[in-house]
Amino acid sequence: MKKSLILVGTQWGDEGKGKIVDYFSSKYNAVCRFQGGHNAGHTIYQDKKKFVLHLIPSGIFYDHVQCFIGQGVILSLDSLLKEIQEIEEKGISLHGKLKISRYCSLLLPIHAKIDQLREDNKNAIGTTRRGIGPAYEDKTARRSIKAFDLENEEVLKKKVIDLVDYYNYQINTIHKAEEFDADLVFTELLSNYEKASKYFGDVTDSLEDIYESGEAILYEGAQGTLLDVDYGTYPYVTSSNTLATSVGIGSGFPKSIFSDVLGVAKAYTTRVGEGPFPTELFCQDGSKIADIGNEYGATTGRPRRCGWLDLVALKYSAKLNNLTSLCITKLDVLDSFKKLKVCVGYEIDGKEVPFKSRLLHQAKPKYKTLNGWSSSIKEAKNFNDLPKEAKKLIEVIEQFTNVPVSLISNGPNRDDLIHR
Ligand code: IMP
Repeated sequence: MKKSLILVGTQWGDEGKGKIVDYFSSKYNAVCRFQGGHNAGHTIYQDKKKFVLHLIPSGIFYDHVQCFIGQGVILSLDSLLKEIQEIEEKGISLHGKLKISRYCSLLLPIHAKIDQLREDNKNAIGTTRRGIGPAYEDKTARRSIKAFDLENEEVLKKKVIDLVDYYNYQINTIHKAEEFDADLVFTELLSNYEKASKYFGDVTDSLEDIYESGEAILYEGAQGTLLDVDYGTYPYVTSSNTLATSVGIGSGFPKSIFSDVLGVAKAYTTRVGEGPFPTELFCQDGSKIADIGNEYGATTGRPRRCGWLDLVALKYSAKLNNLTSLCITKLDVLDSFKKLKVCVGYEIDGKEVPFKSRLLHQAKPKYKTLNGWSSSIKEAKNFNDLPKEAKKLIEVIEQFTNVPVSLISNGPNRDDLIHR
């Protein structure tokens, strides 16, 4: 029986997962998101048109794929409906193809407002300002409005009043900003629900049916390992567990954890927002990577910080996710570099230290320098078509992480992929 696959980011997000999920979606009949929210931005090129998906799984462009949003996802109905509209306007039907868990916690405009007000103060994290943190806080604090609450107006009204009261107090006393109106929040929710209700259902049951019928499922991770709320560079992280192991909770289907795990990593490193980044480049090499790699956030448009590939962090991710293979993306971005560096260790005060998030801001990278290939690899179709220097880089990654590289992306288009 074909095994299910969990696809996760191994760095600080933006590893190019969209294209890779899109590629794998053609080979699975079901794709499921299991954590995060519309802070994700998965870019896909379909018939030369660019799509950025934030909530809807990347399999949506294939007729045969059923898409699921599990209850680990924090759901903005505004964002969902906007995305549905954009996809349908391009002539792609979602009819019968999308199912969202009734147990999802909702992200409301009030969460985004609170996120923005906090980010405008000191100690900013550099969030996407979309309300992800406050919405996950509400879930843990047991005051979330769940999608199923939308089915009962009386219950919904009470929960909305309580939630708006809770936040208006903060808005008033701490931020001195404009309060929210509970009636308006309530009416907007009902109006959104009218349009979205047909998409809600029991995701656990559907995944179980698909699995029991012998079909494999693709689980689409968002953000990256180093942004995991427990194992990432806390507090400069997102508010969900981004690791492959969170798939059982987030999808509601426990057998999902017995899947293969493909980790996606760029051939270099980027990060948006604040937080430690040992291999960050402040010289021309950094801006060269940013320009060639078009390193601007898919969700927020913010420029990304760029640096060399950090193998220590990648090995940490490989272990935490129990990776069975790796996909290296954007290898072509390094085409014109005469020399490349990869980080193979960290030092603090001359002493070698492991990846420890609380020490990372002090860690000085130790590099291994490799020869570049100084030619275009765009036309390469097989591993053997790659210049020997590019092959060497891949082999160094494998040896250091002890994970085989099964896939290499050498351009933005769907078929710019090398299988190994
Ligand atoms: P939040 O998820 O919006 O709360 O942002 C927390 C941190 O995670 C910030 O540094 C964001 O830039 C980062 N982040 C969240 N989502 C993504 C993503 O999809 N790609 C890259 N970084 C992300």
